[in-house]
Amino acid sequence: MILLCVLMVCITSPVAGVEERQGDDECADINNTTWRGYRQQRLKLQVQYLLLTRGNVDCAQTFNQESLAKQPSYFNASRPTKVIVHGYRALGSKPSWVKELAGALLRAQDVNVLVVDWVYGASFAYNLVVENYKEVALQISVLINQLQKHGCKLESFHFIGISLGAHVAGFVGTLFEGKIGRITGLDPAGPMFKGADTYDRLDPSDAQFVEAIHTDSDYFGISIPVGHVDFFLNGGKDQTGCARSRFASIFVYFPVYGYVICDHMRALHVYMSTLNGSCLLKGIPCSSYEDFLKGHCVDCDVFRGTCPAIGLSGNSGIAISPIPKEQKLFLLTTSSPPFCVHHILLKLEVSPLGKSAEVEVTLRTEDLGTEQRLRLQTSTTVYRMVLAHPVALCEIDSIKLKNTGARFYRQGDIHFNSVCLSEFPSLRREEPLCVNNINIRRGAPWSHDFVQVCDFF
Ligand SMILES: *[C@@H]1O[C@H](CO)[C@@H](O)[C@H](O)[C@H]1NC(C)=O
Ligand SMILES: *[C@@H]1O[C@H](CO)[C@@H](O)[C@H](O)[C@H]1NC(C)=O
Ligand SMILES: *[C@@H]1O[C@H](CO)[C@@H](O)[C@H](O)[C@H]1NC(C)=O
Ligand SMILES: *[C@@H]1O[C@H](CO)[C@@H](O)[C@H](O)[C@H]1NC(C)=O
Repeated sequence: MILLCVLMVCITSPVAGVEERQGDDECADINNTTWRGYRQQRLKLQVQYLLLTRGNVDCAQTFNQESLAKQPSYFNASRPTKVIVHGYRALGSKPSWVKELAGALLRAQDVNVLVVDWVYGASFAYNLVVENYKEVALQISVLINQLQKHGCKLESFHFIGISLGAHVAGFVGTLFEGKIGRITGLDPAGPMFKGADTYDRLDPSDAQFVEAIHTDSDYFGISIPVGHVDFFLNGGKDQTGCARSRFASIFVYFPVYGYVICDHMRALHVYMSTLNGSCLLKGIPCSSYEDFLKGHCVDCDVFRGTCPAIGLSGNSGIAISPIPKEQKLFLLTTSSPPFCVHHILLKLEVSPLGKSAEVEVTLRTEDLGTEQRLRLQTSTTVYRMVLAHPVALCEIDSIKLKNTGARFYRQGDIHFNSVCLSEFPSLRREEPLCVNNINIRRGAPWSHDFVQVCDFF
């Protein structure tokens, strides 16, 4: 009873203060909880909403039905609304990235940003949190219904859900029978969702357009496609610059947490970086990462040549209709913003070998280098592989090849009929850069300088 009264005061007092809030004297923040506070509380979900717009980028307002009725309000029903939904909070802390994501969204578009704060329901025991997520979605749907009465169109809502938040968004979408405009799932949660029915997890029927970015599908993320398009970054499992740990799932609760969720959080950081607009991260359709790495998928012909890009462009830039479903897209990234690389296809053709061999390939552009080791088998003469290079094909200064088989059972000389480099996806279908008929002795590096100019029109 007492708790309830406290709550009532909490809910009603900010409403009374809305006029002053407009004057920016008090800013709202996402809540947090401690283990002690969590155990003491009786009411599990204390969902609150924060509003951020270009008018109050640095000072979030608490937002609820009552604040809708108040005028003036920063909320503008004729503008689209982005809804940010955070995920599981192992330690009950508030998600620290929310401000950065909201800021990046507001720099990119003049929209209403609503942040769903369900830290209380999202903290500590993961299995209990999973029990809460539909209730949170139900509460959000009540708010959306209210907003519709104030003139907001269902298709103008874009949910951005992180981890478990992606499934919350998915269930809101289910409640509105897929009429919500867009859902972006940032590494949608995997544990307890992978085998779930589409009703219970994010899936393409939840919104007019559903996209997902996968960065940790072997631990915290989901490994199956859940959207119209699914971007698998570096294969979707392990990210460059994140330490690998076999014990990741055991240490979830403790200080290493921040470190083991590096892969999982990469989806969010990449998304924020694309909102900043520094470069385009485009995905290439392919059936598996292995095929992608072998250079079997180098174009976006299924999308009439336009590769889907991570970011805010409508339907990820897909112009074909109907939009495909559960289309896997692959791309490589670097380990830090802006994350973009150039995908270079390396194709080697060797004369038949008597023994297996190992080759080291290095591409150089000034002080930037990309190195790749490659095993050559006696049974194969054509090799294709994809390399991530920091700059475009036309800026590559040299290629170096080294026959590194130092041990006696390795091949002595290797004869390359051709070594070719091309960049993809490429609209201009430029000619590959090739070097033909080279003989490389064991241990003796060979290199070739390219003389080329970039024709960036
Ligand atoms: C956090 O929740 C508690 C309990 O509902 C409430 O007393 C407090 O005002 C909230 N803090 C914020 C910043 O909303
Ligand atoms: C939790 O919130 C309170 C009040 O909102 C704040 O004083 C405190 O520093 C927060 N704790 C953490 C760990 O963020
Ligand atoms: C609301 O947004 C619309 C469209 O961007 C704009 O024309 C209008 O002036 C805005 N209203 C207010 C009160 O800012
Ligand atoms: C995006 O740009 C903002 C402002 O310039 C900057 O503070 C932020 O670090 C950038 N974020 C990323 C991920 O590039």
